[in-house]
Amino acid sequence: MLPVPSPTVPPVSTLPSLSPGQAEEVRTLGRRAADADGVAALSEQTLLSLAAPEGAVEHVLAYAAGHLGAYAQCQPAGGGGGGSDGADGGSPGDGEGPSVELVVDPALRRQGLGSAVWAAVEARDPRARVWAHGDLPSARGFAAALGLEPVRELHKMARPLTEADATGEAAGAATALPAGFSARTFVPGQDEEAWLETNAAAFARHPEQGRLTLADLRERMDQPWFDPAGFIVVEADEAPGRVAAFHWTKVDPEQRSTSDPAATAGEVYVVGVHPAYQGRGLARPLTALGLAHLAGLGLPEVVLYVDGDNTGALRTYSSLGFRDIMVDVMYSRAVHARV
Ligand SMILES: CC(C)(COP(=O)(O)OP(=O)(O)OC[C@H]1O[C@@H](n2cnc3c(N)ncnc32)[C@H](O)[C@@H]1OP(=O)(O)O)[C@@H](O)C(=O)NCCC(=O)NCCS
Repeated sequence: MLPVPSPTVPPVSTLPSLSPGQAEEVRTLGRRAADADGVAALSEQTLLSLAAPEGAVEHVLAYAAGHLGAYAQCQPAGGGGGGSDGADGGSPGDGEGPSVELVVDPALRRQGLGSAVWAAVEARDPRARVWAHGDLPSARGFAAALGLEPVRELHKMARPLTEADATGEAAGAATALPAGFSARTFVPGQDEEAWLETNAAAFARHPEQGRLTLADLRERMDQPWFDPAGFIVVEADEAPGRVAAFHWTKVDPEQRSTSDPAATAGEVYVVGVHPAYQGRGLARPLTALGLAHLAGLGLPEVVLYVDGDNTGALRTYSSLGFRDIMVDVMYSRAVHARV
């Protein structure tokens, strides 16, 4: 009788923290996959959390042929987030499983590594939800094979920047604020607490953004891309020193323009309006002020990310000329409402 080959079960380990060497292996894996897929599987938050303190996130690693073949990171629900979203938040919050990013080395796919890592993730929390950035065919096939369903969508939208944006005179994107409000730039060392308060209020129902802490804010302010000149704060005359609304823009060389891949795209990183000032016509001129800053830097394009169920923000951005260029989908076992 012929010997029956035993199925190869890749060794999977779940760790509460990574050594600097392991973190570097993950970055290398992420770069290899991004080059092959044309979209990064590991987000800024996940890359920052490679150095997170013990137990803040969970790391799942599978080694094959002596090197890191697959990696998943599980962020507890409501953990530090970031990225642009609309002024009125509006996504489900508590009661959700961890948010996961999962990537397999392009040379080692279709060998069960992704399934093995996902099994380890679900064994710890069956409500786990995994991001498919760009909703690649591989991710769709993988989700279908494992019986996962889409539970959340994140739209990446883009718009060209023009000279009229730089002067604040673009049709439909004028920068003039309503009477009683004025704009200035964020002052590090002065505005942190006021900004955190408004961010928490504006994104009270947002799963990630609303719970940013002072440490999360400082972590972002320490990044090479941070520039207070692109962090616009609106004050109401009636409440000096408080933040009525804000538009934080980002210029990260990693963010490539879709129209010219050699150029960097600016980003509407996050726009928030305090609930006390919502419905007063701040969102459009505030968004336009950020576009004016980015256009003034000579950037050809601006991108942003917004939740698929944030219809108010989707409408605002569409009316400002933004169009969908990619949709990220979050998959989970059918314990959540389907989108
Ligand atoms: C999606 C991904 C994690 C799958 O990893 P993997 O190790 O290749 O997955 P597995 O080998 O465990 O595949 C399990 C099943 O998923 C399905 N599947 C995986 N890749 C697929 C593809 N490219 N097309 C269609 N189905 C696919 C198949 O049914 C497969 O079983 P089979 O190979 O016996 O037919 C990997 O392709 C990847 O890293 N993609 C980029 C990052 C990403 O999108 N991550 C989010 C995943 S939701």
